[in-house]
Amino acid sequence: MIELRHVNFSYGERPILRDVSIRVDQTESVVIMGPSGSGKSTILRLILGLVQPESGEVLVDGESMSSLPEKHKRELRKRIGMVFQDGALFDSLTVGENVGYYLIEHTDMDWEEITERVVEMLGFVGLIPEQVLDKLPEQLSGGMQRRVAIARALLSTNPAVMLYDEPTTGLDPQSTETVLTLMNKLTSEKKISTIAVTHQIADAMTLADRFIVIDEGMVAFDGTTDELRDCPDSRVRGFLEPFRESVDLVLARKFVGWQMME
Ligand SMILES: Nc1ncnc2c1ncn2[C@@H]1O[C@H](COP(=O)(O)OP(=O)(O)OP(=O)(O)O)[C@@H](O)[C@H]1O
Ligand SMILES: [Mg+2]
Repeated sequence: MIELRHVNFSYGERPILRDVSIRVDQTESVVIMGPSGSGKSTILRLILGLVQPESGEVLVDGESMSSLPEKHKRELRKRIGMVFQDGALFDSLTVGENVGYYLIEHTDMDWEEITERVVEMLGFVGLIPEQVLDKLPEQLSGGMQRRVAIARALLSTNPAVMLYDEPTTGLDPQSTETVLTLMNKLTSEKKISTIAVTHQIADAMTLADRFIVIDEGMVAFDGTTDELRDCPDSRVRGFLEPFRESVDLVLARKFVGWQMME
């Protein structure tokens, strides 16, 4: 579905990513972690085709983003939904207009039909449509804004893959839980692949079965939860050490969950 092949990327003279190869298949959930400035958001920008690799390839659905003409690239981009860190809603538009924005701008649907879709999508992300439809984003909590942003991404592109840049940063525990549950629901119900960047290790464990750790622009680790915990690489251990307790806790909770299911 999404693949980076031996990608090198620089901002000016400064190398940011070095020989990065990542592959995410249909319906897979992958979390990208790593220190601040290691290049995580840059990877999302490359997948969206907002920046071009210096060498190597970015493939979406087997097609190379960099070699396509702009029109075809736009088509391919429609298969990707992006939720930016701050939600990036339009401040002066209502929630309804934000979620329906793409349909208003790019289709011939009338307002009634658009509202119908918007209401359905707001319901899907766990908001009560009548309560939020005519509000401005600033009148909603951070967690609600994040859900509106997810609803907008879903209604914009009918995506096959969703990219999230730090989707739970700045949210209280309850809103975090709601957003994570929604992200998991998208993967399981709509068969959408997930690529999420997060600093929250507990969130990462809730979301993904595979982890990628980026360190200084290189893939330091790519593997499962158990492999991550037992990884001997000193960069990965160093990165994980502050979170070791929560890693063990989450793994224990998962284990108990599995036992209860059996
Ligand atoms: N437009 C830009 N021009 C020049 N340098 C940039 C630009 N955007 C990002 N950088 C630099 O590229 C490096 C990687 O940035 P990136 O945003 O990918 O990091 P990140 O891993 O997402 O970090 P964070 O966890 O803080 O969000 C950083 O050192 C950053 O300063
Ligand atoms: Mg970032």
